Amino acid sequence: MTIHFIGAGPGAPDLLTLRGRDRIAASPVCLYAGSLVPQALLDHCPPGARIVNTAPLSLDGIIAEMAAAHAAGQDVARLHSGDLSVWSAMGEQLRRLRALDIPYEVTPGVPSFAAAAAALQAELTLPGLAQSLVLTRTPGRSSAMPPGEALGAFGATGATLAIHLSIHNLAQVIADLLPTHGPDCPVAVVWRASWPDQRIVRGTLSTIEQAVAGSMERTALILVGQVLAAEDFGESSLYAPDYDRRFRPRSADSPFTGVNE
Ligand SMILES: C[S@@+](CC[C@H](N)C(=O)[O-])C[C@H]1O[C@@H](n2cnc3c(N)ncnc32)[C@H](O)[C@@H]1O
Repeated sequence: MTIHFIGAGPGAPDLLTLRGRDRIAASPVCLYAGSLVPQALLDHCPPGARIVNTAPLSLDGIIAEMAAAHAAGQDVARLHSGDLSVWSAMGEQLRRLRALDIPYEVTPGVPSFAAAAAALQAELTLPGLAQSLVLTRTPGRSSAMPPGEALGAFGATGATLAIHLSIHNLAQVIADLLPTHGPDCPVAVVWRASWPDQRIVRGTLSTIEQAVAGSMERTALILVGQVLAAEDFGESSLYAPDYDRRFRPRSADSPFTGVNE
């Protein structure tokens, strides 16, 4: 008996891994995290499965469901939106399960930042412009930011920013980033990436608030960085005609010649 934590992806039902689908299909109990997990994923549950929306439950209630399934020898599919490695509340559930000696495994999912980047048809790391991506958020009602993780501090690095859980704080996000990025820095807001009603608003730090005009709530990602609008970036050395590498030695003298034979 195992609790299968499964990244349910950003919304489109076909952005679930095959492993995740198979784990759901093999589990007689499914616990899913509210409205961010698409209902269509629940169609993979076996007939007669116990399917529970955990949105109204406390952590104690969720663990009680898991413990009951464990006592009955039933596998559980535990679905959280996107990937489990960020803002999934998986860590606290795993800690409880360790204390109860209940086995679990983790199956990754497509994170929302990747779905948003795909919607924008954008690479978030471009040569010479940004080689890092910061996945972050602003403080919320129930979650303060640890000291040192201020948005402005990340902004100062010049990395591309993927700001989660913050569309209601858009004005503060702009205020925090204007000093480091300036008013012309490109911004994109992707609402419900990969869902049928997905929306994209593009602008700059000086125009995005008016462009969004309060029209997006909750499930939106704010992306900030020069990579969103640049055409004048370098090309990757990896594919340059004269770049000597293991899979494309450039001469008989290359240290890579014969390496792959
Ligand atoms: C509780 S966090 C979950 C993050 C999730 N674990 C992931 O891998 O992306 C919820 C936040 O993720 C972002 N998010 C989740 N799904 C999204 C989607 N389909 N489109 C845009 N943003 C999304 C929003 O910023 C939302 O406020």
